[in-house]
Amino acid sequence: MPVPRETFLSSVWRDGIFKDKVLFCTGGAGTICSMQVRAFVALGGNACITGRNAEKTEKGAADIASVRPGAKVIGIVADVRDMAAMEAAAERCATELGSLDFAIAGAAGNFLAPMSQLSSNAFRTVMEIDTLGSFHTAKAVMPYLIQSVQKHKNSGKEEPTGTGGRIIFISASFHFRGQPLQAHVMAAKAAVDQISSSVAMEYGPHGITSNVITPGPISGTEGMERLSTADARSVKESKAKIPVGRWGEVKEIADATVFLFSDAGSYVNGVVLVVDGGAWRTTGADMGSTWKYPGFFLSGAVVEGVKGGKKSKL
Ligand code: COA
Repeated sequence: MPVPRETFLSSVWRDGIFKDKVLFCTGGAGTICSMQVRAFVALGGNACITGRNAEKTEKGAADIASVRPGAKVIGIVADVRDMAAMEAAAERCATELGSLDFAIAGAAGNFLAPMSQLSSNAFRTVMEIDTLGSFHTAKAVMPYLIQSVQKHKNSGKEEPTGTGGRIIFISASFHFRGQPLQAHVMAAKAAVDQISSSVAMEYGPHGITSNVITPGPISGTEGMERLSTADARSVKESKAKIPVGRWGEVKEIADATVFLFSDAGSYVNGVVLVVDGGAWRTTGADMGSTWKYPGFFLSGAVVEGVKGGKKSKL
């Protein structure tokens, strides 16, 4: 479906800055990642997106390609938990599109569940998708990113062929202050932040930059949509707690991505760029009006709809 350009990109960026460059993005058909890729492709690049679901991934790729005549976007079915599959996906991307210059480790799994309803397998699943998946992605793309930065030097000067050799990890802010019902995600995303730090330190000497983007509450995402349809009062309260007084737009995550990949972001390495209107500083243990903190944990109530209906004694 055509998406108006102002939905996914600010008008401040120059067309063609990613001309002939290739972005590899895991989980690229998702609400936020697809807009990051769309912005990159709109500004001249081509892309490969990966996902587990063939139909969603292929449809997502075709949809993103429609943003610019002549754009090439390939959908590759691959599970980030499978190292060999990620290596094969990165190789296919570089072979079919001619290079692999940028990467986004975006694939993630999330659901709300208290520890009492979280099985060992549920915890492991999110750790494997988010943490191991990000590690696999970094390992699989790194040889190509190094080749790219050798051609497109990160000198801090305006290079004639533009930039290359950059990776962004998508994280979350839950672990900054703590968030009930997110034990699995807090553990996984804290680790993702540190994987990015390691890439920044160990591959920075090759010219690579590695950074994290931490989106806050973004309109149109699964979690925010759930809240919007459930309860208008919760939406109002949620927005009121954010310093800038509103939820973010997908465009604001795409803009941050373009900044980090562009010449404007050349000296930014090893940071966690939190794009949340300041939300993490004020929200803390908020669980919305459905589950009040801490009463929910003392009440013996359960989160409905948890897969397998698990509930341990404590
Ligand atoms: N609450 C508690 N446990 C859950 C759960 C939920 N809502 N969803 C899944 N699990 C548990 C399962 O019960 C299973 O544990 P078990 O074997 O002890 O029963 C374990 O997690 C693995 O689940 P499964 O569905 O087999 O894993 P998967 O690899 O197919 O998918 C997710 C895992 C996280 C991707 C899946 O739960 C999901 O689709 N989540 C919503 C979509 C999403 O995460 N989008 C990304 C937004 S960032």
